[in-house]
Amino acid sequence: MSAIESVLVENRVFPPGEALTKAARISGMSAYEALCAEADKNPDEFWGRQARENLLWSKPFTRVLDESNKPFYKWFDDGQLNASANCLDRHIGTPVENKTAIIFEADDGAVTKVTYKELLARVSRFANGLKAHGIQKGDRVLIYMPMTIEGVVAMQACARIGATHSVVFGGFSAKALQERIIDVGAVAVVTANYQMRGGKELPLKAVVDEALSMPGCESVKSVFVYERTPTACTLAVGRDKTFTELLQGQSDECAPVAVDAEHPLFVLYTSGSTGKPKGVQHATGGYLLWAKMTMDWTFDLKDSDIFWCTADIGWITGHTYVAYGPLAAGATQIVFEGVPTYPDAGRFWQMIERHKCTIFYTAPTAIRSLIKASETNEKVHPKNWDLTSLRILGSVGEPINPEAWIWYHKHVGGERCPVVDTFWQTETGGHVITPLPGATPLVPGSCTLPLPGIAAAIVDEAANDVPNGSGGILVIKKPWPSMIRTIWGDPERFKKSYFPEELKGYYLAGDGAVRDAERGYFRITGRIDDVLNVSGHRMGTMEIESALVAKTDLVAEAAVVGRPDDTTGEAICAFVVLKRSLPQGDEAREIAKQLRDWVAKEIGPIAKPKDIRFGENLPKTRSGKIMRRLLRSLAKGEAITQDTSTLENPQILTQLDQTY
Ligand code: WT7
Repeated sequence: MSAIESVLVENRVFPPGEALTKAARISGMSAYEALCAEADKNPDEFWGRQARENLLWSKPFTRVLDESNKPFYKWFDDGQLNASANCLDRHIGTPVENKTAIIFEADDGAVTKVTYKELLARVSRFANGLKAHGIQKGDRVLIYMPMTIEGVVAMQACARIGATHSVVFGGFSAKALQERIIDVGAVAVVTANYQMRGGKELPLKAVVDEALSMPGCESVKSVFVYERTPTACTLAVGRDKTFTELLQGQSDECAPVAVDAEHPLFVLYTSGSTGKPKGVQHATGGYLLWAKMTMDWTFDLKDSDIFWCTADIGWITGHTYVAYGPLAAGATQIVFEGVPTYPDAGRFWQMIERHKCTIFYTAPTAIRSLIKASETNEKVHPKNWDLTSLRILGSVGEPINPEAWIWYHKHVGGERCPVVDTFWQTETGGHVITPLPGATPLVPGSCTLPLPGIAAAIVDEAANDVPNGSGGILVIKKPWPSMIRTIWGDPERFKKSYFPEELKGYYLAGDGAVRDAERGYFRITGRIDDVLNVSGHRMGTMEIESALVAKTDLVAEAAVVGRPDDTTGEAICAFVVLKRSLPQGDEAREIAKQLRDWVAKEIGPIAKPKDIRFGENLPKTRSGKIMRRLLRSLAKGEAITQDTSTLENPQILTQLDQTY
């Protein structure tokens, strides 16, 4: 049996190593418990102390938490600070100033390094370039960039002048870009001519051009283009400038603009269960505080560490653990442009060896695909590289199955490195439930216990606590500094989505979870709404359905569900009713391809359905509701146990059985 196909439950417990525990910032469970008790006893004092110790304030705050307008909590709100100053300037005049901030490895393997001092100069120059184009505090800047030092510089430069950035992952389509530009009201777009991924040159600027040619994007006055490759791209006169032009003659000194702690640092779009993506708004002070603290706590960061988070800056993981956390903590980090399978599936291991990486943080989907690759090709197995520099491993984005955990622990970590399975969300800003490497005994498949100050719990639909061992709804009972502040431009949706009345003011994560009877450890059982997790990326089923039915010449109706997939966690399965007769064979395959390409254009290639099934109609109840549970069973290939006697057209079950 393949390592990833088996579903064995792993009951072994992995206590933290003695040496690691001894030297850890949070050393042993008693230290963890003491922090939890402190946070519990007097949250204001606890968070106030942390905010004073971990951040530099231009104007000290006098109030910690303002709960006068729940659930619109405010933290440290009469204080002022600048996020970029807290990531860069704070290190100047300390030994960190000449430390390498970023080791950048390009897709082709070329390596560039910048020190903190150099990074500050680059960010300042970029910030001056933005200012020269009239961009100022409160403006929104959309960033559509490849994984590069320049991407981080653009984010930091926005923060430096108090502009709110909204990064869109380079895999999203022109249509998705247009929607976000309109929703956030961007005045400028920062992009690159192309991005390099897996040896291929993929257009970015052309996608921006397409988005800006669509209606509603008139707010965008400037486009700044990083010349990532020598290939030319078109530049609109008056609107577009290359980075060379933008930075020409700009000083590399720029005073950071102090903003209120609640000033929106960024808006990041994520999928919800209904409607269009939500612009998750984070505040400067609380967000940055937790980014810094979780670097120290979850990764037990030491001055000598070489930290590597493989996430793209287009996702929250790339915000908190690439663009902000490592810099605020003064770490040396690796930024990687490429993909884990190019030139072959040994790339991650080769890079860990090459850069002597000590803390490695990646997603289960990547681990599973690399396990698969190493099963068929010995040469890409991690054993071919020297990975002894590693001391801590991390996992993020989706549940990690015990088999993948054990493989990661054994073959990557040499049975020496704790695996921190970090549970969190775009909305939580940083880790909320996670082991601590020098304290928590690990159980594969469990994200273990909440961090100090995080009041995570499992409740039923009436907000009552459920006993350990029974599953329920994951909530966080008290506010914490890095929580989402609102949905950009839609406070009502914010309230409804995260603080539904039945839950008595608790924050609703949207996941199901269960705590084990013995230790009270949390295990996340998956989303309880119509959100799928495909390769660690959140996709709303409704969003994909809307995209499909927008193909009005072909599609009459569509329903999308998830099914388990042993590499991507979940896979997208679309059930489609066409406006024409039921297609068969090659014709059906051809239409399925058209639909996939269409979804890639509407949202992005990551939203392409893996399975497409056609039927003359969809299974519905008498009241006309689509029987989604039945569709999920069909998608999984399970025996149908639901009552199908009420189906108008029972033969559609046979039709819907065929996958294209
Ligand atoms: C959703 C959040 C966390 C940053 C990257 C994804 C799932 C995330 C875990 C984990 C089980 C996890 C949840 C969550 N998730 N981490 N360690 N174990 N599930 O951020 O796109 O906002 O997605 O990812 O379902 O709600 P996101």
